[in-house]
Amino acid sequence: MAEVVIVRDADEAGEIAADLIEKLVRGTPDAVLGLATGSTPLTTWTALGKRGLDFSRVRGFALDEYVGLEQGHPQSYRSVIDREVVGPLRLTAELVRVPGDSGPIETAGDDYEAAIAAAGGIDLQVLGIGRTGHIGFNEPSSSFGSLTRVKTLTKQTRADNARFFDSIDDVPTHCITQGLGTILRARHLVLLAFGEAKAQIIAGALEGPLTASLPASVVQLHPRVTVIVDEPAASDLAFADYYRYAWEHRLPWEKV
Ligand code: GLP
Repeated sequence: MAEVVIVRDADEAGEIAADLIEKLVRGTPDAVLGLATGSTPLTTWTALGKRGLDFSRVRGFALDEYVGLEQGHPQSYRSVIDREVVGPLRLTAELVRVPGDSGPIETAGDDYEAAIAAAGGIDLQVLGIGRTGHIGFNEPSSSFGSLTRVKTLTKQTRADNARFFDSIDDVPTHCITQGLGTILRARHLVLLAFGEAKAQIIAGALEGPLTASLPASVVQLHPRVTVIVDEPAASDLAFADYYRYAWEHRLPWEKV
């Protein structure tokens, strides 16, 4: 079972996620971070940016990227990661990779997997969750063994992400994303979710059946998962009281 931490709000969640990342980077200055976009991890990046840590040797691998946006498009995940993560944390831009950032798209997935392996694997992967239950851009029906590859976005995800574009027609139809199998290989998963709109999908992912119909349920297979949710996102969890009890009764060595 994942460790589930139920917090007041996104700011408190960001501090807890930042504690986990700070501990990792203090012990391993060239740690490998898996980077997520979306509104959810923003408080984590903000909290980390204020801690005065040296991130210059940290390596980063983004979860996913749109296919078909021109280079430098403000909504490409390369641009988003540069703006929201590389800048505030003062990461070294050359050490941060985004899927599809080199070579032809047909082989970009394999190249990305090779780059992650060459870096020694991802130490800590930050994850948000989409309303379809996707992590990265692994839409429902994604194989639990999938590796980085090109995927077709669902209509729901394109509609959800249309707010970042002038119109829904401008939202790309395809993406390249780390697979669920890629995500499973990371040594520690930190999954964040906030707000009532995520309650049902979080309950399904953590407590429902393991199913490709809800891709985030794959986290149940991972040996080390920290889920940090606010009260509204936790509102459908059947074992919420147990998670609160377990967090309050952490043993000394379990505390960051
Ligand atoms: C996008 C990203 C996901 C992210 C999801 C949720 O689809 N590809 O990685 O988790 O959005 O976004 P938000 O955090 O804004 O709710």
